[in-house]
Amino acid sequence: MLDVAIIGFGVVGSGAYDTVADGRTPLRVKKVLDLAVRPGFEGIMTTDYNEILSDPSIAIVAESIGGLHPAREFVLSALKAGKHVVTANKLLMANCYRELMETAAANGVCIRFTPAAGGGIPWLSTLRRTARGGQIRKIQGILNGTTNFILDKMDQKAADFDDVLAEAQALGYAEKDPSSDIDGLDVRYKIALSCNVATGLTAAPEEIPAFGIRYIRKCDFEWMKAQGLTCKLLGNYRLHEDGAVSLFVQPTLVSSHSLFASVEKNFNLVQLTGDRVGDLAFYGQGAGKDPTGFALVQDMLDLAEATPEVAYVYKEAAVDNSRTFFRYYVRTPDGAVTLTDSISVCAAQDLYKTLPEGTFVAAFAE
Ligand code: HSE
Repeated sequence: MLDVAIIGFGVVGSGAYDTVADGRTPLRVKKVLDLAVRPGFEGIMTTDYNEILSDPSIAIVAESIGGLHPAREFVLSALKAGKHVVTANKLLMANCYRELMETAAANGVCIRFTPAAGGGIPWLSTLRRTARGGQIRKIQGILNGTTNFILDKMDQKAADFDDVLAEAQALGYAEKDPSSDIDGLDVRYKIALSCNVATGLTAAPEEIPAFGIRYIRKCDFEWMKAQGLTCKLLGNYRLHEDGAVSLFVQPTLVSSHSLFASVEKNFNLVQLTGDRVGDLAFYGQGAGKDPTGFALVQDMLDLAEATPEVAYVYKEAAVDNSRTFFRYYVRTPDGAVTLTDSISVCAAQDLYKTLPEGTFVAAFAE
């Protein structure tokens, strides 16, 4: 048996705990850290992180506190104490990627974060493998369960935005502050992480332009339906010949018969194009307690079998969104619809800043 600790006993932490408690893995949860000891868990729960750090039998720490602080400090001290770390925390990983990877390597341990993008889908772990010996040219995906749930319901049931957002929150898909979901910021972290894993290049999330779905309304779906289209929120990565990358998040109008259109509820679908492997697609539940907790346990099991990371050298990505072009659908609050010519993602962002609050913008799929 390999002893592990879970820090943060919320949705993801308890999902991971339940998987290990099923007893089908060689893992044992020795300690769980949270702000208070929960009745029924007195034997393993603690409020003192030092009990975990100072226990040499604990080889892996699963971070599921969420947020940037104190998660960053807890993860750094676990790595420095020679413990492997697994985490579902996209905010932490996307903002502190280089620091955490370098600290892990310096201490001869690993940090894995597969559930940070794609929830239950083994996306980042497979991307990591696929990037070895090849070049990932393109990534495009539905990477947020909450917004897919909203867009699917608005499309299928002609539902109102606010009602379906409340439903997604009740189901535990949404972030504490759902702005991160509906403004595309959550996808921004996930596409930044996908770029990190695909290329080793680091990209600051705030450098990635994001259009969200906050202002999408029933009238937009009526317009799209008449054209045989629907809308999906897509995260995008493109690698250019000179090594620069385009990274952007935008609602995208796709054919109602396309693969992306068939993705229902909180499911995610992410596709990559590799120079040698060609196109690959990955589908599954992108949010929720059991899928995300299960993926966290898969990372623990990989680490139980793995050797420490080879040392990488991290460089900042040259992010350039001026050379990726789309036509855009623009619906202003008065209901008027305009279709633009083919313009760059940068030009679309500049245009959006000049439009009134409440305008909804989506790209036409390439
Ligand atoms: N709020 C996120 C989502 C959770 O809806 O996809 C999983 O990252």
